[in-house]
Amino acid sequence: MFWPDTISKILNIKYPVIQAPMFGVSTPGMTAAAAKAGCLGSLALADLSADQSVELIRKTKKLTNQPFAVNIFVHHIPELTDSLREKFSEAKQFITRLAKENHIEVRLPDLEDIQVNSYHDQVDAIMEEGCKILSFIFGNLDDKSIQKLKENEVILIGTCTSVEEALILEKSGIDMICVQGIEAGGHRGTFDANDIPEIGGISLLSEVDDHVKVPLIYAGGIHNGKTLRAAKELGAQGFQVGSLLLASQESALHPFEKERLKNVTEKDIVLTKSFSGRYARGIKNKYIETLENSAYILPYPYQNKLTNELRKVSKSLDNTDFVSIWAGQSIHNYSELSTEEILKNLIQSVGMK
Ligand SMILES: Cc1cc2nc3c(=O)[nH]c(=O)nc-3n(C[C@H](O)[C@H](O)[C@H](O)COP(=O)(O)O)c2cc1C
Repeated sequence: MFWPDTISKILNIKYPVIQAPMFGVSTPGMTAAAAKAGCLGSLALADLSADQSVELIRKTKKLTNQPFAVNIFVHHIPELTDSLREKFSEAKQFITRLAKENHIEVRLPDLEDIQVNSYHDQVDAIMEEGCKILSFIFGNLDDKSIQKLKENEVILIGTCTSVEEALILEKSGIDMICVQGIEAGGHRGTFDANDIPEIGGISLLSEVDDHVKVPLIYAGGIHNGKTLRAAKELGAQGFQVGSLLLASQESALHPFEKERLKNVTEKDIVLTKSFSGRYARGIKNKYIETLENSAYILPYPYQNKLTNELRKVSKSLDNTDFVSIWAGQSIHNYSELSTEEILKNLIQSVGMK
């Protein structure tokens, strides 16, 4: 039997394959389609408000009666100091000017317009909605939240990018750990936004497997049978795939973004803090090249909130130079089939049912 069954039994799914939460790209439809393939779908809630989170959870519940995970950003909110206020206004001016020079008219928010949400409100909403699987990145939940969630029988999946982070998660009672290799598309799950453990998937997964006992899910570069088998060999009992689904029917990417994926090369895939203030992997463009190493990158979530509108307007203009197209290092033919078909094909390509 190829498939390890620890995770499938705990999560009540047929295959231990997980559709990665991908905020901005994954959709309730994608989550439901993953469930149809016998996998675990993940609903990305990022740092949305409690109300917005509830809306998406209810939408997903209407589409599937199978289990799915909800995923949140457990982030630290930096204190608003005078220096941060000053930097915000400088970054706003710089980015507005850059957009204008590139024929994009955009009104970026003032600091006062920005609403920053804490994950604590989402935790309560998730329990009230009866969600039973919660995955998270950017840190660890506080002890009180862990206790509350456990009392409500919610299974917790934390994300690590180093052995040190894995040990912290395990010690605090997190049930499973998603080990995120440096190859992974999208945001790094790293706890400290300024620190970036650049550990490749092979080294990280085998090391974490040597140091912790909880079941491990691997994320980063899985896109076919051989990459999935490699992750199993190194200790993974669950397999999380993100980039593989970027061009799927249920992906929220626009046609011009899916088109860009078709001609992407290895050199185009970079790690950058320029859009959100946290490291994320995606396709290099004019915005990233200009902002990288500049003084105009604020800490998360302020940079993220500042650049949101620019990305939205650029999307409406089909402008690849000012949108964030997150993607991992495994470049392949991005399939435009449905999520269900892509996942079924992946499962089949592993070779053994
Ligand atoms: C477009 C995109 C958005 C992402 N957003 C999230 C997110 O909201 N939450 C999260 O935990 N991980 C997020 N990730 C990371 C994925 O969950 C996963 O770790 C990664 O996709 C695995 O590597 P792969 O892209 O090589 O498959 C995102 C990845 C991508 C490509």
